[in-house]
Amino acid sequence: MLRTATCGELRADHVGQTVTLCGWADKYRDHGGVVFVDLRDRYGITQIAFRMEESSETQKLAASIRHEDVIQVTGEVVSRGDENKNPKLATGDIEVRTNDLKILNRSLTPPFEPRGEHLANEELRLQYRFIDLRRPALQEMMKVRHQLTTSVRNYFDELGFLDIETPILGRSSPEGARDYLVPSRVHEASFYALPQSPQLFKQILMVAGYDRYYQIARCFRDEDLRADRQPEFTQIDIEMSFVDLEDILSTIDGLLARMVKDVRGTELKTPLPRYTHAEVMERYGTDKPDLRFGMELTDISDLVAESGFGVFKNTVGSGGKVRGLCVKGAADKYSRRILDNDMKKIVGEHGAKGLAYFKVVGNGLESSIAKFFNEDEQKAIVERMGGEDGDLLVYVADKYEVTCAALAALRNHLAKDLELYDPKELNCAWVVEFPLVTRNEEENRWDAEHHPFCAVHPDDLEYFESDPSRIRALSYDLVCNGYEAASGSIRIHDPAVQQKIFDLLNIEAEEAERRFGFLLQALRYGAPPHGGIALGLDRWVMMFMGTDNIRDVIAFPKTQKASDLMMGAPSTVDDHQLRDLHIKVDLPE
Ligand code: AMO
Ligand code: AMP
Repeated sequence: MLRTATCGELRADHVGQTVTLCGWADKYRDHGGVVFVDLRDRYGITQIAFRMEESSETQKLAASIRHEDVIQVTGEVVSRGDENKNPKLATGDIEVRTNDLKILNRSLTPPFEPRGEHLANEELRLQYRFIDLRRPALQEMMKVRHQLTTSVRNYFDELGFLDIETPILGRSSPEGARDYLVPSRVHEASFYALPQSPQLFKQILMVAGYDRYYQIARCFRDEDLRADRQPEFTQIDIEMSFVDLEDILSTIDGLLARMVKDVRGTELKTPLPRYTHAEVMERYGTDKPDLRFGMELTDISDLVAESGFGVFKNTVGSGGKVRGLCVKGAADKYSRRILDNDMKKIVGEHGAKGLAYFKVVGNGLESSIAKFFNEDEQKAIVERMGGEDGDLLVYVADKYEVTCAALAALRNHLAKDLELYDPKELNCAWVVEFPLVTRNEEENRWDAEHHPFCAVHPDDLEYFESDPSRIRALSYDLVCNGYEAASGSIRIHDPAVQQKIFDLLNIEAEEAERRFGFLLQALRYGAPPHGGIALGLDRWVMMFMGTDNIRDVIAFPKTQKASDLMMGAPSTVDDHQLRDLHIKVDLPE
């Protein structure tokens, strides 16, 4: 080893020892006679003191050290004394005094400093990811990510699960996003698809008798990116045979408790609370509610149906809903300009045509539209909302679905703005009984809500003909801090039932055979009852670390436009590569 200690480990106990440290030169200070360099590696920072008078060779070298040079020093661990201690550093009690310095490698002037006061813009950081990854915050992310996957592996190993790899080059897998395609050179005009998930393979592993499977699997989806989505991401993928829904939920409860225990050293209370899909839609307007705070949606449609406010009255009259939020103590928090612009824009992005708002004053309302509500109506509204003097009430009047989406977004925005929660709290719950299918009005058909392999709730078989929208699936989502953190279901293991679902989804026998024929075939050869789930690993790291930028938890992430700015991917390729693949690029004019 070129070093005998890391930059994070020396303490007062080590005083008097001779050590060799290696690392990157961070801060550099010349105090006339002594040059101090903060030497950094991923374990921490140690202050190095070069005594200039001791050796002129070292003096010259030390004076030439610049940011991010890689150096090696050998010297004595010396106490800094009480007056010079740095309580902010784990190694702050000591420094290493040396006149033995080796510059292992020079660095060009970095475009930003890993521990600079201001965070450089993200584009620059992604381009110079090798420097950005030196940032202690990112190093902590990578460490926690490793700890989480280690915890996952230990947990499943102890339960007798097998980690089995599934192919990256395969056929399209049905998770609803666009596929990334890879052209085959050997098979002209044929393409592999990168897996959107190992879904089909893991089901086939069940048929093959591997009753407890897990994999930390890379998935690829060519979809519109958001702050919590990457084109390639990682799932903790799980499938089990001879189990029911309860078995899977309790296995995952156990996994989460283990992850929290191993990484945070705290207890997670299990079993996690459970809500039905219908209940969370009613109370929070979304199937992935952030449950770290309250502020639930409240329906006042019946109270305003006869009011003098046309917008409310007409909405209710035409079958819509008036629903809103009570924002505690926020009556004077937001100006009219903010409410009429910023907040209205947030609900507008989800289809709402406006945002109505009031201040609660006593047990009445105040605002430009309060005059349209008589005293009794005002009182009833305040009471229904649980309003108190000084609260802000906000409303959207629209179709039920629009009130859900708009108010859910506003609720999240307000909670973040008003700091109603601790960003590092982990608040997880199960949402169960999702609808099996949703109506696609545009294309006049039913779409699978999760994927076409979810088993049907045994009480709902009668709705296949009468009202498919009422069929509940044996599916479940794990929601955590407002994210969909995991998703899964009990699967169909009976080929006849699977056929019934394909019929409902209007997937022709021929198409089903073409797309999932191998799975259907496997189901005919002794498929055990089975089910599973996949956790979004990246999102778990985000929640553990309290960040809402998925790029911070991936070593080499892609931008919102799915490019890698460091290596410059995607890129054009050489003509001969295209020729080998018989591919011609034909851009539109
Ligand atoms: P699903 O498509 O819901 O289910 O994905 C499972 C979990 O993966 C995470 N996730 C993502 N994370 C980052 N970027 C993305 N683009 C992205 N897409 C999904 C989410 C999500 O909950 N095969 C099924 C699972 C099953 O039924 O067992 C599946 O893939 O956290
Ligand atoms: P208007 O009558 O359109 O001038 O709107 C009066 C107030 O009601 C404004 O603050 C609007 O933002 C609000 N408003 C309009 N339409 C809606 C709606 N569909 N839901 C909630 N508030 C609305």
